[in-house]
Amino acid sequence: MAVTVKSEREIILMRESCRLLAVVHRELEEKLRPGMTTLDIDALGEKIIRQLGCVPNFKNYNGYPASICVSVNDEVVHGIPSKNRVLNEGDIVSLDAGLIYKGYHSDAARTHGIGEISPEAAKLIDVTRESFFAGIKMARAGNHLYDISNAIASYVRPYGYGIVRELMGHGIGTSLHEEPMIPNFAQRRRGMKLQPGMTLAIEPMLNMGTPDVEWLDDDWTVVTRDGAISAHYENTVLITDGEPEILTLY
Ligand code: MF3
Ligand code: CO
Repeated sequence: MAVTVKSEREIILMRESCRLLAVVHRELEEKLRPGMTTLDIDALGEKIIRQLGCVPNFKNYNGYPASICVSVNDEVVHGIPSKNRVLNEGDIVSLDAGLIYKGYHSDAARTHGIGEISPEAAKLIDVTRESFFAGIKMARAGNHLYDISNAIASYVRPYGYGIVRELMGHGIGTSLHEEPMIPNFAQRRRGMKLQPGMTLAIEPMLNMGTPDVEWLDDDWTVVTRDGAISAHYENTVLITDGEPEILTLY
């Protein structure tokens, strides 16, 4: 799927899709409790998405069996919700959600602590979020795509966290995944020029340990190879003539 530049009409639809997704994330965050299962989160998320009149875009995407990706501790992304996986105090959980509104996709992820978490885990979550904001400072028309990647990587470097390389951000619009791919690690080339009207899902994934990941036998769940915890932060962003608009913030 090629890079697309959205028209004014499409931008209005993207904004609404993303605004509704922000509502989903806010409600999920508010309901998160120790003792919940990851399947409870999926069921709740799907219910909220449908009550808003939207469709969960992850469900059945390449065979993914749920609406919300719920990834706990050493799970990086694409955890499959299960009635047997209970959230406990001290866990960190990444919720990745998306929806379709009038044909337009939105995509956003947050990592939350369950109850009290270690200062080290809290720091990883903070730096992951901050690295996104470092990246989007460069998300301006006339800059190049990999300016974003390099800004994320430079921000993370002093902390020593592992930046996941196998998974990247992406363009988004009438498809969940459009070109271009957006790496979160340093690039030697500049990449394509950014234009107003591009909508991008920018999504750093940081590991407390090494960057290396593996796939579980379910063929979805991505885990850290060393078993250390991992955090994820993602928003859908609009490139404009000036400051980027972060469409999935509440
Ligand atoms: N948010 C994920 C991404 O950006 C999408 C999950 S793919 C799914 O790639 F199949 F798990 F839904
Ligand atoms: Co995404």
